[in-house]
Amino acid sequence: MQYNEQLQYLLNNLQGKGVFLTAGMKPNTMTASWGFGGVMWDKPIIVAPVRPTRFTHGLIEQTKEFSISVPLSDNMNKLLGYFGSVSGRDVDKYKEKKIIPVRCKSLDTFVMPNCLCFECKLIYTNNIIKERLDEGIKNGFYGDNAFHTMFYGEIIYVYNS
Ligand SMILES: Cc1cc2nc3c(=O)[nH]c(=O)nc-3n(C[C@H](O)[C@H](O)[C@H](O)COP(=O)(O)O)c2cc1C
Repeated sequence: MQYNEQLQYLLNNLQGKGVFLTAGMKPNTMTASWGFGGVMWDKPIIVAPVRPTRFTHGLIEQTKEFSISVPLSDNMNKLLGYFGSVSGRDVDKYKEKKIIPVRCKSLDTFVMPNCLCFECKLIYTNNIIKERLDEGIKNGFYGDNAFHTMFYGEIIYVYNS
């Protein structure tokens, strides 16, 4: 599979500490620990599940692109915590943490520095349909009714920032 090695690295970082998900020309980054990578429509794809309550959600919908930045070391663990606990609606997270985001190579958004980066163009979106979801998962994860939107991004560029 194309990007096999890099996707493996991405998957290793999901579920645990998470990765950075960025969108917007005036960028914003959030932490994401759910998602998957694979093949569909003969294309390498990353699917990013994002709740509609996230500021980043609107940015992806508007711009139809996003980047994923996977830290190359554990030095960024605290940053992952920070970017996953405050909203770009309220603060400029980069300014607060003195991070200079890096311009993407082929998208009108940015990646985080010192990461393995995936640039993705949105090619499909669907929503979790609550009537079709397992009751236990619904009760366990969606007390707030904020069912994830699944953003399917075609991977168009992978590199280290
Ligand atoms: C480790 C970790 C993993 C997270 N994973 C996700 C995720 O996969 N999807 C999601 O919608 N929110 C996830 N979040 C929550 C968002 O990162 C958090 O709500 C963030 O503040 C949203 O920022 P924004 O409003 O600037 O977009 C995660 C948070 C943490 C700390």
